[in-house]
Amino acid sequence: MMRFSKMTALMLAFAVAAISLTHPLRAEMLEISSPDEAIKLTVSDEGGIASYAISFNGKQAIAPSKLGMLFHAHHGFDRELAIAGSTRLSRDDTWEQPWGERRLVRDQHNELAVTFAAQQGPSRQITVRFRVFDTGVGFRYELSEQEAFPGKIKIVDELTQFAVGQDTMTWYTPSDEFNRYEYIYRTGPAGKVDDAHTPVTFRNPDGTHISIHEAALVDYSGMSIEALRPGNFEARLRPGSDGIRVHTEAPFKSPWRTIQIAADAVGLINSDIILNLNEPNKLDDVSWVEPGKYVGIWWAMHINERTWGNDGIHGANNEDTRRYIDFAAEHGFDGILVEGWNIGWDGDWFNNGSLFKFTEAYPDFDLEALGAYARSKGVRLIGHHETSGDVSNYESQMADGFDLYQSVGISQVKTGYVADAGDISRIDENGIQQFEWHDSQFMVGHHLRVIKEAARRKISINAHEPVKDTGLRRTYPNWMTREGARGMEFNAWGTPPNPTEHVSTLAFTRMLAGPMDFTPGIFDLKPNERPPVREDMQRGDPSNRPQTTLAKQLALYVVLYSPLQMAADLPENYEKRMDAFQFIKDVPADWEESVALAGEVGEYVAIARQERGGDEWFLGAVTDAKPRNVEITLDFLEPGKAYSAQIYRDGENAHWDTNPYAIKIEEMDVMAGTEMEFSLASSGGVAVRFVPKK
Ligand code: NOJ
Ligand code: CA
Repeated sequence: MMRFSKMTALMLAFAVAAISLTHPLRAEMLEISSPDEAIKLTVSDEGGIASYAISFNGKQAIAPSKLGMLFHAHHGFDRELAIAGSTRLSRDDTWEQPWGERRLVRDQHNELAVTFAAQQGPSRQITVRFRVFDTGVGFRYELSEQEAFPGKIKIVDELTQFAVGQDTMTWYTPSDEFNRYEYIYRTGPAGKVDDAHTPVTFRNPDGTHISIHEAALVDYSGMSIEALRPGNFEARLRPGSDGIRVHTEAPFKSPWRTIQIAADAVGLINSDIILNLNEPNKLDDVSWVEPGKYVGIWWAMHINERTWGNDGIHGANNEDTRRYIDFAAEHGFDGILVEGWNIGWDGDWFNNGSLFKFTEAYPDFDLEALGAYARSKGVRLIGHHETSGDVSNYESQMADGFDLYQSVGISQVKTGYVADAGDISRIDENGIQQFEWHDSQFMVGHHLRVIKEAARRKISINAHEPVKDTGLRRTYPNWMTREGARGMEFNAWGTPPNPTEHVSTLAFTRMLAGPMDFTPGIFDLKPNERPPVREDMQRGDPSNRPQTTLAKQLALYVVLYSPLQMAADLPENYEKRMDAFQFIKDVPADWEESVALAGEVGEYVAIARQERGGDEWFLGAVTDAKPRNVEITLDFLEPGKAYSAQIYRDGENAHWDTNPYAIKIEEMDVMAGTEMEFSLASSGGVAVRFVPKK
């Protein structure tokens, strides 16, 4: 009996000691604010759990949310943690983009780096570095070199949570479905969302807008979010084919997890935090990276006018390519994209990526002669590397493919990874075929290999079916643009096509990540009603068509930013409407400044941009199916200066479905401060060029 009670007392003493060790009596709470003090972030170790919370203008934006990370064969950071130290820093720098939606970017933030030490098991610590800007928060994990982490590390889970609340409205695409990022946006209360790709956009009941994404995704896997409990999401890292989410070693830094916060929807667009959280340019002189506009042998294949393969109506033939080159030169375009010129497209190219040859042309396409012809006309061919997701086949030929392009004066290449999500094929070091996701660590690495290989030859990249954009264009300015959402092609064959609200949603979701090669400017709005060119090549379902007015097609050039902007339709369709085409000829692809002026997610948006290297301004506004009047005060124009506004607006009774071509082109004199009211038709838009008067 005696012995027993002694034992109990001893055990109790032990337990008390353990508790005081693992649960420090006083939890520590650190706080940091944005420079304008509207955003307040707190970091705590209460209950041994590392967590953060965010308030905006005094109201909770993110409820206390856990931080942490688990590993395969190392002790992780989950519980029994205590704040062991912290450092603070403030910055206010302005840096210049070689090209972009604005030339000068201000990076103003307060930083708090918090080190959490494990209170149990081997001694180890992890630092979470927070940066708080006026437009949101970024934070990342940093694991230093330490005894507890020798050799290779396998991350099996990142425990970051984002407690946005159940009633928060959400605009998102699902993260685990076959079409990668190419989904019609879904919307509903956060409490009903299971999983989402980022950027994912939220609107709180109090009107605060939030977007969760990541910045500087390098040597790591992409993050999506998954509901833990209704309205509380956890970061989910995409696993590789071996089931491991990230292979790494200490020291390492995770990508930044970003939480943009704004009082209104356009505040999300007017934020540079994704770029600011990326490393500066690593390529030195990038004067060879040239923004511009292009045409191409492209839409013709999507509407079954031509084929990629060589079967009698092969799109990439010498004659058609010369015609496109002439058209580009005549109308001031910089590039001509030609798809389907290289061997591998015949038959089922979706499923035969291994057949692509990146240096062999079809016999009716003379790459060298066409490259020379383009140069003689002052324009350039744009190269194309479709891989159909066979990345090993591509990597084995990539250097030769870029060499060939460089030798014929090609300085921009579009890449493509048409394969279902999770079906990127690679041959591993044992010769075994493995399948990866488009946002896996393997593909994150692949894209950077392409970027670096291309940069060596002064080539810039436009990736389709890419990994999402996380702002790496700052570090590698030759990674100019990409797809990564439903683009125009869905209006040729996507059933259903992009809905009327698609662009008004994209502007506040996908576009927050960076430029998109949406390929705007379709002028024949009922392409599938054209008679087929061949009996065995019927057109698609006629309901597949751009669900917009003609004026809205023009507005896309301002609303959807891309430094490479395509005029996607067939030259003959532009030749029929030269008056409207004039706007596409005039609009630049590189900007001194951009301002989102008005809008609501999924409803409408108006954006103004000033051309780089000049004083013209451009304005684009689009609406969903609901016609509306948008009032814009021209306070972005230079005070005291008179401008002539060239307006391309929806005409009388315009309507995307019943009367899409009604357009009114007119000119009027305006000044800074002039109030303009634009009336937008159902899925309509307006495009304006402001030219300073002499
Ligand atoms: C899908 C791309 O998005 C599209 O632009 C391209 O034409 C096809 N793949 C073929 O590469
Ligand atoms: Ca695509």
